[in-house]
Amino acid sequence: SKVVLAYSGGLDTSAIIPWLKENYDCEVVAFVADVGQGEAELEGIEEKALASGASSCYIADLKEEMVKDYIYPSLKTGAIYEGKYLLGTSMARPIIAKAQVECALEVGADALCHGCTGKGNDQVRFESAYAALAPQLAVIAPWREWDLRSREALLDYLAERDIPCTASLEKIYSRDANAWHISTEGGVLEDTWNQPNELCWVWTKDPEDAPEKPELVSVLVEKGEIVAVDGEAMSPLNALTYLNDKGAEHGVGRIDIVENRLVGMKSRGCYETPGGTIMNEALRAVEQLVLDKESYEFRESIGLKASHLIYDGRWFTPLCKSLLAAADELAQDVSGEVVVKLYKGQATVVQKRSANSLYSEEFATFGEDEVYDHSHAGGFIRLYSLASRIRALNEQKK
Ligand code: ARG
Ligand code: SIN
Repeated sequence: SKVVLAYSGGLDTSAIIPWLKENYDCEVVAFVADVGQGEAELEGIEEKALASGASSCYIADLKEEMVKDYIYPSLKTGAIYEGKYLLGTSMARPIIAKAQVECALEVGADALCHGCTGKGNDQVRFESAYAALAPQLAVIAPWREWDLRSREALLDYLAERDIPCTASLEKIYSRDANAWHISTEGGVLEDTWNQPNELCWVWTKDPEDAPEKPELVSVLVEKGEIVAVDGEAMSPLNALTYLNDKGAEHGVGRIDIVENRLVGMKSRGCYETPGGTIMNEALRAVEQLVLDKESYEFRESIGLKASHLIYDGRWFTPLCKSLLAAADELAQDVSGEVVVKLYKGQATVVQKRSANSLYSEEFATFGEDEVYDHSHAGGFIRLYSLASRIRALNEQKK
């Protein structure tokens, strides 16, 4: 039989290859998703997979598709988990799983395998996607089966089989990176009373060491999507990469949270989403100009619901698809231009305009105007508060 493994080149998935061959008597195909985790993780990964015993290794470049078809649609909903988390890992899982499934169907595999632990969200996200896309394939989750419990045990397991491995015994943090974000969990962060140290932050400059001078970036938004930055048209991936560099330099996009995992436990993590934070601010600013009160409120409710669906591994569901479609429809008027000021960890919108803006200086002015009749408000409030009036009159009669 044949198993396609979502392979990262790290210690866990390296040990999974021989473990699968020994315990399932199967051929193992290593599937690598390039979601923008960076050259360092990808370098020599095919050789590594083969050296661990994989029969072949496929690398899929998913970067552009991830930003275009997963991140931009999510951004339109305004999905932010528990008020802070921009869902970097959560959005990457469905696209990785989908490409892995496609690989499995192509090579005629019988099973899918991943290296997630039995404690986390990622196992749910991978397997929910598998279920939605290829229910006929078996699923193997070694972390829920084997009795290897430490890095030392995994290193010994590889050494006993003469499989070369460059991983070290002491890997302090659990990390996950893609074009959108990098997450850091474990180590000193496991005690919520410990402040993050300099090793907890990877991409972004410490705001205290960021430039003393603010920098302005201009962002062009069209139908809820960032299409140009600083006057230059850019693909979604290029815009993100550009804004990641700018944001990181100014220490933008750091969060440190305790979050509720789907499996019930809480976990603490430091996430860095520099470009994403700027993009989110820019988009929300154009919405402020364009969406009327009820539309804005509805967009907020879509974002809240979408944040849970995405976090909880429900990307490939009719409900998630519906919410993304609704957000896309609402975003049809969300076009405009924004200037964001980057300074010492903050990304602040300081200028915004839109051809679809409902903001009217003529109406809103505190000075004299020609367009608004104050007396109209009297009748409106009379009817608006009619139920309260009747209720109070009833009370007085009692
Ligand atoms: N807690 C975050 C989430 O659930 C990040 C998970 C990081 N995953 C990883 N394999 N290191 O989305
Ligand atoms: C894991 O446990 O595999 C990573 C963390 C998570 O999935 O939440």
